[in-house]
Amino acid sequence: MDRVPSSDDLSRDIGTRINPSILAADFVNMQSELARIAAADFVHVDVMDNHFVPNLTFGPQMVQRIQATSPIPLDVHLMITDADRWAPGYAELGAASVTFHLEAAQEPVALARRLRAIGARAGVAVKPGTPVDGLLDVLDEFDQILVMTVEPGFGGQSFMPETMPKLRLLAEEARRRGSSVWLQVDGGIGESTIAQAAEAGADTFVAGSAVFGAGDPSAAIAALRAAAAAHRH
Ligand code: DX5
Ligand code: ZN
Repeated sequence: MDRVPSSDDLSRDIGTRINPSILAADFVNMQSELARIAAADFVHVDVMDNHFVPNLTFGPQMVQRIQATSPIPLDVHLMITDADRWAPGYAELGAASVTFHLEAAQEPVALARRLRAIGARAGVAVKPGTPVDGLLDVLDEFDQILVMTVEPGFGGQSFMPETMPKLRLLAEEARRRGSSVWLQVDGGIGESTIAQAAEAGADTFVAGSAVFGAGDPSAAIAALRAAAAAHRH
């Protein structure tokens, strides 16, 4: 018999992750910067091609070196065009997770399957203006879905609360399906904004300036983790 699930039935016990973005770190002192975020779950690595976004960071060679030297697993966020062609290379170099943009992929599900086959967690990201409705039916093809909370391209921008309904929609569908997909937010996440993202259903939080701009990045990670956990439900 059909029944309305209680809120207990809808909870997903999948933990909370804080992934500092090295976009806000000192690029020429990457090893010491990584040592400052030992409490992180993943290190978020923003790859930008000056085409998908109007900014340029680094490509596979740099990511390969970070992968080789980082004690923390890599969460690679690809802000690049032609994801179908380039994303698998980042999985092959050993990144723990590889997230490409839905707007930049011809065949997102096929690409996610390739990433998983190589051994990476497969992620798909959406810009603030991109709907997530098309992802609801294929939720379990992905290990994480990244709802951008700023326009991708730059650190230090303001959190966009108007993206929260998309997160709620994804969280509701994930609960309904009993899915273990991680729901990630990226952009403008700090102590004053993390609660609303957690409340809307995010479980994985990228923070650049809020972590690397803090005097004590470990304390900042701990504070973000506590604030997120307090508002997850
Ligand atoms: C923006 C990047 C983010 C950025 C976040 O395009 O994807 O990862 O580093 O930086 P903050 O946390 O400073 O908004
Ligand atoms: Zn990012």
